[in-house]
Amino acid sequence: MTDPDVRTDLTGRTIVITGASSGIGAVAARRLTELGANVVPVGRSPERTARVAARLGAEPLIADYAHLGQVRDLADALLQRCPRIDVLVNNAGGLIPSRRVTADGHELTFQTNHLAPFLLTSLLLPRLRSSARNGPVRIVTTSSLGNRFGRLRMDDLEWEKRRYGGGWIAYATTKLMNVSFTRELARRTEGTGIGVLCFHPRPARRGGARTGRTGVPTRFAEGSPALRLLTRTPLRGLRLNDEAGAGPLVWLAASPEVGGAGGDYYDGLRKGAKVNPQADDQALALRLWDRSQELLRAFL
Ligand SMILES: NC(=O)c1ccc[n+]([C@@H]2O[C@H](COP(=O)([O-])OP(=O)(O)OC[C@H]3O[C@@H](n4cnc5c(N)ncnc54)[C@H](OP(=O)(O)O)[C@@H]3O)[C@@H](O)[C@H]2O)c1
Repeated sequence: MTDPDVRTDLTGRTIVITGASSGIGAVAARRLTELGANVVPVGRSPERTARVAARLGAEPLIADYAHLGQVRDLADALLQRCPRIDVLVNNAGGLIPSRRVTADGHELTFQTNHLAPFLLTSLLLPRLRSSARNGPVRIVTTSSLGNRFGRLRMDDLEWEKRRYGGGWIAYATTKLMNVSFTRELARRTEGTGIGVLCFHPRPARRGGARTGRTGVPTRFAEGSPALRLLTRTPLRGLRLNDEAGAGPLVWLAASPEVGGAGGDYYDGLRKGAKVNPQADDQALALRLWDRSQELLRAFL
């Protein structure tokens, strides 16, 4: 698989990227800016996000998804700043190695990787819809092939009845929720000109070899020894680095080849890759949607 050579001129297009302070999001922010887009970088760490934004010549926005009020403030700031949004990239997320509960009362993995992007997308949806009247709009969510190991239980979204362990399965379950959310959102926005899709950031350029770039392994695996091993192994093909991992994201956000994208899941550049069978359960996606809305009622 080769890195997609995206050359689309993105001048005049506004792309909001969460998780832009680090890793895949930071590289994608740089590459989309190089293509001419007006990128709005969103991060959690003010210092890291400011550093990335300075390199882009952009103004950063900060929100910690452990606080849903900050997600709502982020949406307000984006609505003030961006009269149109052409692409929303829900990329922020991570693996949390021990179970924690936020001040909002939710298990932190569930809140960070599912509830917060659900809330942000919902609050931005009217703006995305109006933007789609004047050109194609996309909502891209960074899922993971880990979705296949997830186990979505509507009676245990908050991970109270099962052993949390090192957070692997809780993480995988939220990445499954990203796929379900993408599919349900695609159904709800059908015919509006909004393309909705999600992906696993499989490196599109192995180890950076073709360009001589080496990149840096992302920070997302830091809390998990097993993931650290996987993402840092020097074995060809297993090594993920942020330059390579950003290739599919840049392509999905920018390339006209991607098309309408009705809730598709991509593994790297490959459309229609295998997902957890629960992601194909439309009734379950609807229940998750309704329950998420209920849990977020105070913020919507
Ligand atoms: N790297 C991989 O192998 C891999 C594989 C599959 C999926 N993914 C997914 O790819 C996405 C990007 O991860 P990455 O690999 O680039 O890792 P990364 O370098 O750790 O980047 C994660 C980004 O998410 C942000 N973030 C984490 N927790 C947050 C919170 N509570 N509130 C707001 N922002 C938060 C971080 O913000 P700060 O830096 O400002 O704290 C950072 O910008 C994640 O969704 C991850 O699950 C990665």
